Amino acid sequence: MQTLWLKANEIEVAARLLREGQLVAFPTETVYGLGASAWSEKAVAGIFLAKGRPQDNPLIVHIAEKEQVMELAAAIPPEAERLMERFWPGPLTLLFPRRPQVPELVCAGLETVAVRQPAHPLALELIRQAGVPLAAPSANLSGRPSPTLAEHVWEDLAGRIAAVLDGGPVGVGVESTVLDLLGPEPMILRPGGVTREELEEALGRRVALDPALLGQTDRPRSPGMKYRHYAPAAPLLLLDGPEREEVWRRIAAEAAADTGILISEEGAAYLAGRCAGQMLVLAPLNRPDLAAQRLYSALRTMDQAGVKRILAEAWPRHGLGLALMNRMEKAAGGNYLRVEVAKHE
Ligand code: TXA
Ligand code: MG
Repeated sequence: MQTLWLKANEIEVAARLLREGQLVAFPTETVYGLGASAWSEKAVAGIFLAKGRPQDNPLIVHIAEKEQVMELAAAIPPEAERLMERFWPGPLTLLFPRRPQVPELVCAGLETVAVRQPAHPLALELIRQAGVPLAAPSANLSGRPSPTLAEHVWEDLAGRIAAVLDGGPVGVGVESTVLDLLGPEPMILRPGGVTREELEEALGRRVALDPALLGQTDRPRSPGMKYRHYAPAAPLLLLDGPEREEVWRRIAAEAAADTGILISEEGAAYLAGRCAGQMLVLAPLNRPDLAAQRLYSALRTMDQAGVKRILAEAWPRHGLGLALMNRMEKAAGGNYLRVEVAKHE
């Protein structure tokens, strides 16, 4: 299949392809999505095929107007209403009891449907012109880092989908927060662009994390979270510890010439001139939002550089740091080193 590269002014071509049941990758504020009409079981099946995605992993449905949620959801909890008012359009995905007409494949057989209104003008215009809600996972091959540039989509999916709509670099850089409001307490199933702190502030109550995010169970409520996602080709070791300088020193001790190092600005300054390897600076430590924006692209750069191993410095888990660390943990696939404080006698 020949994949079209579409510019922002060719949006009506993209909309027509979607109406015809074809697959089109498009920019959102989080990452690029691979869209198909949510009403077409056949088009949705194509998404799983193009990505090599396991069929037990449900899709997020993207809408252009808040009211469109009524076509998909059988009920809207009052707290959802509040969060939609506050955070939509934006990187927050909410679960709703699904209407029976939503294709089974979209929800992977679950009784809930995940919906969000993306905050990207091209995404909103595309959904409007297509005239249908779009089921869209991230537009990467399953297991690869999510695309933050149209070029990343091309790398993974050229020849497998009808078109890529180029909207330049995305803003947030990690996926939306998936929030479940249907249980006794609000629960984050996947940390993302809207932070836990913002949600707690808006709801005026505690927001829980899926115990699987804390490593307390290996059965996450969001099926997609069980896969080793976002994985670069080289093995990645995540280094954490109570003393940052100890972590940096350990990175220097571990690094060889063909090692890639994902590090904070502070860490890079500390290690300058005393560390082998290829350093890629993510951001200053007080800007996990910037680090999140750059992470996926950095992982792809590491692959292209052909490094044999990646060492990554852990980040504080507040604000966007929670999503950032979740993606780094996924990339590490359990390869985690806690650097204890050395005893100086
Ligand atoms: O920012 C995003 O959310 C991006 C852009 C394109 O919108 N999309 C995205 O989709 O990240 P995807 O398919 O890569 O991740 C969707 C996540 C998966 O972890 C999936 O298991 C979960 O949402 N999910 C979808 N429907 C669900 C449901 N009904 N219940 C629980 N989890 C659900
Ligand atoms: Mg994904």
